[in-house]
Amino acid sequence: MGVIFLLCVDTLQLIMPKILESATDSLEGGTLTRKSLAVHAAALLLVSVGIAVFRFLFRYTLYGVSRSIEHSFRNRLYAHLQKLSANYFNTHKTGDIMAHVTNDMNNVTMATGQGVIFAVDCLLMPAASLVMMLQTGGFRLTAASFAPILILGVLVFSYMKIMQSTVQRQQEAFSNLTEAARENFSGIRVIKSFVQEKHRTEHFERINEANRRANLRFTRLMSLMFPSVMLISSLSFVIALWYGGMLVIEGSVSLGGFVAFNSYLGMLIWPITALGWVANIFKRGSVSLGRINALMDEKPEIADRPGAVPLVIPGAANSAGKTKAIEFRNLTFSYPGSSEPVLKDISFSVDHGKTLAIVGRTGSGKSTLVNLIPRILPAPEGTLFIYGRDINDISLSSLRSNVGCVPQDTFLFSDTIRNNIDFYRGFSAEETEKAAKTARLYDDIMEFPRKFDTVVGERGVTLSGGQKQRTAIARAIIGSPPILILDDCLSAVDTRTEEAILRELKSIMEQRTCIIVSHRVSAVKDADEIIVLDEGRIIERGTHESLIGQKGYYHDLYTRQLLADEIEEAE
Ligand SMILES: Nc1ncnc2c1ncn2[C@@H]1O[C@H](COP(=O)(O)OP(=O)(O)OP(=O)(O)O)[C@@H](O)[C@H]1O
Ligand SMILES: [Mg+2]
Repeated sequence: MGVIFLLCVDTLQLIMPKILESATDSLEGGTLTRKSLAVHAAALLLVSVGIAVFRFLFRYTLYGVSRSIEHSFRNRLYAHLQKLSANYFNTHKTGDIMAHVTNDMNNVTMATGQGVIFAVDCLLMPAASLVMMLQTGGFRLTAASFAPILILGVLVFSYMKIMQSTVQRQQEAFSNLTEAARENFSGIRVIKSFVQEKHRTEHFERINEANRRANLRFTRLMSLMFPSVMLISSLSFVIALWYGGMLVIEGSVSLGGFVAFNSYLGMLIWPITALGWVANIFKRGSVSLGRINALMDEKPEIADRPGAVPLVIPGAANSAGKTKAIEFRNLTFSYPGSSEPVLKDISFSVDHGKTLAIVGRTGSGKSTLVNLIPRILPAPEGTLFIYGRDINDISLSSLRSNVGCVPQDTFLFSDTIRNNIDFYRGFSAEETEKAAKTARLYDDIMEFPRKFDTVVGERGVTLSGGQKQRTAIARAIIGSPPILILDDCLSAVDTRTEEAILRELKSIMEQRTCIIVSHRVSAVKDADEIIVLDEGRIIERGTHESLIGQKGYYHDLYTRQLLADEIEEAE
């Protein structure tokens, strides 16, 4: 529809000079009466109104379509990006993905909107204008006036080539500028505490200077291009006036034809100038479309395989201590793209309803190990079993809704504390409050200005490190998932609160399987089994008592922390 409206505008535009021609010729021939003059004027007005109406319609439909394409494209892309594995976002910078998506999306919108409009205009209009020029001014005049325009076309085309790299540089400079500002604002606390404002300001100024240079280069090119386009197109009019005038004197072209010829010439200039630009829009659009398609084709590393089955957890009472809830069999794991395994030959199992604790030096692989269980990381085939079934055969949604996870880095959304705990899963207010109580967060919340409706995160109150951790715990335990994973999630709370939380957890953890990662003996000593990881291997395993007897890493950890506690108590 948009293209049809556009064609209507173009046709009406081609009619306009014809009205002028007829009026001029009748004027010259002395046949123009007041009445026919009024008819000519009315016709001109009608055509102008028609042009205005159809111009509105084509802009509205074509730009509307391109905006709708952008909208649905963006939704699809976002939905797709959400499916990609966590590791994809470790290996690709968020800023880059955002910049790409924004820029590429713009380019595609340009190509489908302006691109289509100008393509029709730039190909059809010059052709039609040329035909009309031939008809009104004859071959010789057309050929003579057209020569400078040909040169113009070539010139603009080569300009566009230079322009392309300039625009690219301009875009890069701008994205560097925004990235620098963004980073400085998020890191403002660090900058202030290390008194680096001056250095960061200078850093920003350097990037800003680069941005100015890139912009100036663009401005210089544009300043050069417009006057030269004007000059060369005036040349066409000079020829049209001089040579065309002579032809009128000779009598081989009518005065009306001369007037109309000049109008058509005027219509020709702009499309020819825009031709190079249109080619550029389409080229950029198709390159961008290619990049977006590549992103859309990116296969999620972790996805349901065909025939994936939901996780079935056997009845609680008769299986406690009998069924292996989680079993690792000789699991070796390396991160994609690295050859050195982070976990080596890991074998252990946790029975239904039991608690396993993992301790070990920082970087020993504890988080990696627990991230395999909700399949945030992919476990190799035949190495990890949940209730006897290979984890790769279990459907993701059923697995993840049965595994409550408190990750090491807590992340809260800019939303109310209630929504952060409930996390849009539709739990009742009582359940949310119960989870907050278990996580020892309830009393803190009661002191907030709007209780559970207090907005936290960037746009609201700032929670303390321990409050954030306890919010994350409440989020994981609400709805009592059968498997609970706590990855060092009590590190920011004092030992007394830790004990209280663990005591509360114990009451709800009856019948549930739990894995606790911690650096503190106090958090793990009551576990049914404790394993010690070192450089990706299990080096010790057993209960608290048996591990102390082994006089290894765990024993050292214990004596050191015992000492620390004694000092603390003495103070
Ligand atoms: N996404 C990743 N890609 C590559 N290597 C990683 C990735 N994440 C972690 N590692 C590496 O894997 C090793 C184990 O990391 P992991 O986070 O599992 O340790 P951790 O035992 O949880 O340590 P901490 O006690 O400090 O939390 C480290 O050497 C780390 O550098
Ligand atoms: Mg960790």
